[in-house]
Amino acid sequence: MIKSLVPPCEGLTVPIAKIGGSKQLKSKGLRMELTITQPDDWHLHLRDGDLLKAIVPHSASHFGRAIVMPNLKPPITTTAAAVVYRDFILKALPSDSNFTPLMTLYLTDTTSPDEIKLAKRSGVVFAVKLYPAGATTNSQDGVTDLFGKCLPVLEEMAEQNMPLLVHGEVTDPNVDIFDREKVFIDTVLQPLIQRLPRLKVVMEHITTMDAVKFVESCKEGSVAATVTPQHLLLNRNAIFQGGLQPHNYCLPVLKREIHRQAIVSAVTSGSKRFFLGTDSAPHEKSKKESACGCAGIYNAPVALSLYAKVFEEMGALDKLEAFTSINGPDFYGLPRNTSKIKLNKTSWKVPEAFSFSFGDIIPMFAGNTLEWQPSLI
Ligand code: DOR
Ligand code: ZN
Repeated sequence: MIKSLVPPCEGLTVPIAKIGGSKQLKSKGLRMELTITQPDDWHLHLRDGDLLKAIVPHSASHFGRAIVMPNLKPPITTTAAAVVYRDFILKALPSDSNFTPLMTLYLTDTTSPDEIKLAKRSGVVFAVKLYPAGATTNSQDGVTDLFGKCLPVLEEMAEQNMPLLVHGEVTDPNVDIFDREKVFIDTVLQPLIQRLPRLKVVMEHITTMDAVKFVESCKEGSVAATVTPQHLLLNRNAIFQGGLQPHNYCLPVLKREIHRQAIVSAVTSGSKRFFLGTDSAPHEKSKKESACGCAGIYNAPVALSLYAKVFEEMGALDKLEAFTSINGPDFYGLPRNTSKIKLNKTSWKVPEAFSFSFGDIIPMFAGNTLEWQPSLI
């Protein structure tokens, strides 16, 4: 653990009320620390092979559980494949880790209602992911006919109380990339919820004011959203600042500042409808810094520091724990974690890169100094 850069100084107190009045917040001299229920990551890409082994310790060192996205090559379309993938993840974990992967299935036009029954019975599959075909990384096998071929499966999911996790963008190349989320809400999500009001839906990695309004207009406990650190901290300028910035490119793409502000207000309001989902999505450096760079931001090592920064800047540190550790399990109907994590307000430098035998992974905010350092207790 990196030591505090600020030496403890007896007798000085920090104005706790100013930063949210949180009961979990303690001041030790000039140092501040926050103790919260261990967070979960409700949207994570763990990949496979060497990349999985390289990166899973980063998530496992902070998060108790994670919803693991199924967009591998080939995608995880069956419960049998999810069970095998889960075993690979468990084997890749550090020996002392209690991290629990929560598996998902990749919805296709040919997924059967029986597969959903099997998934529910397995006890290891917790949701089904909808990738509109062509929307993002490894989505070529995704859905082309949601209201036709997929309808029986969606009905079975509603029956089994199995959440649908949605990559909410239309893929029509004629729709401007910055409008694809809004158009998806109007043409797919709203009709879907009207047709299947009992289906639990998570709108993943929301990026717009329109998504915030949509989620807030739906029934609490029925529709929710995950929010990434990048969509809370960056707007679309970050992709072009001083030259093309491939490490700030993800999908859905970063949006205008007004959208970022709307998302920040929503998550720091204390609403139960929003919870932590990093969408941490590593790609080896040469695949990002390329003529046709991959979408995805690797944020697992910095995510908790960044979420704490956002809540602190809004004077809402007392609402951080609900977002990171309570709203997610409550929505999924899973128990909250019993372990705790400590966030120390200590400066630490994000590595420039994580180097592995197969290449480098560049984290979000590489080389920058952050505050709020997490450690398990
Ligand atoms: O930026 C992204 N990267 N968005 C996604 O939806 C997929 C992800 C990935 O798997 O790389
Ligand atoms: Zn994702």
